[in-house]
Amino acid sequence: MCLRGATGALQKEIVVAHSHRLPIIAGNWKMHKTTGEAKQLTEAILQGIKNEKELPKIVLCPPFTSLPTVATAAGKGIDVGAQNMDHHESGAFTGEIAANMLTDLGVTYVLIGHSERRQFFGETNGTVNLKLKTALKHKLIPIVCVGETLDERESNLADSVISRQIAAALSDLTMEELKTLVIAYEPVWAIGTGKVCESAEANRVAKLIRTTIGNLFKSKEFPETIPVLYGGSVKASNIEEQLAQSDIDGALVGGASLVAE
Ligand code: 13P
Repeated sequence: MCLRGATGALQKEIVVAHSHRLPIIAGNWKMHKTTGEAKQLTEAILQGIKNEKELPKIVLCPPFTSLPTVATAAGKGIDVGAQNMDHHESGAFTGEIAANMLTDLGVTYVLIGHSERRQFFGETNGTVNLKLKTALKHKLIPIVCVGETLDERESNLADSVISRQIAAALSDLTMEELKTLVIAYEPVWAIGTGKVCESAEANRVAKLIRTTIGNLFKSKEFPETIPVLYGGSVKASNIEEQLAQSDIDGALVGGASLVAE
């Protein structure tokens, strides 16, 4: 499949190595952008994609406060995602946001288990599983993030860590329930460091993720339907190579998603 770039930064033809899974480019704005800045950036991105015919699925994940602002672009080639949510339906959970508060705003995607949530906010494989169940119940499309730390990679533990993260996240769920699942492979050491994972290695891990899911559900077909994104220092100069890999279906972009170009 040949795609025109999603934003000005991705002007080149992006070649995706397979055509049976819809490519997704998601921007995780993390804790950046006031509502005014979010409006400007959203408008600039809309302007950038205006004349594009063959677009990937573009998902913008601003901070909670800018979700209503970005949601005004929903349906114009952009989908809106949240960076997190609580797994409870409602209740005395000061500072948390429930799934129905997101869907109410027009949010359709949610990041679950981003490594910064795991690292700084105590999220575990167990909470990822609980959040995934709640997200699916509310028909939010989950982007479940997995990835190893530098220590784990250097100790040859990357594959076992990732397989464990996947198995725990998907525990007690059926293929039917998981039919909208998206996985993002984000090696922690590649996030915000400028050290992008070599594309062949990212592809090997994306395959490992599919094999793990195939083994869990005893299915060859199911893992083939799941988009696997790569994230970690993705920018205009390296996205093409990542997306050309057979098992990588898109990108979860942090820093580079903060500018429209
Ligand atoms: P960077 O693209 O800034 O490395 O961040 C990646 C990321 O964490 C996206 O979720």
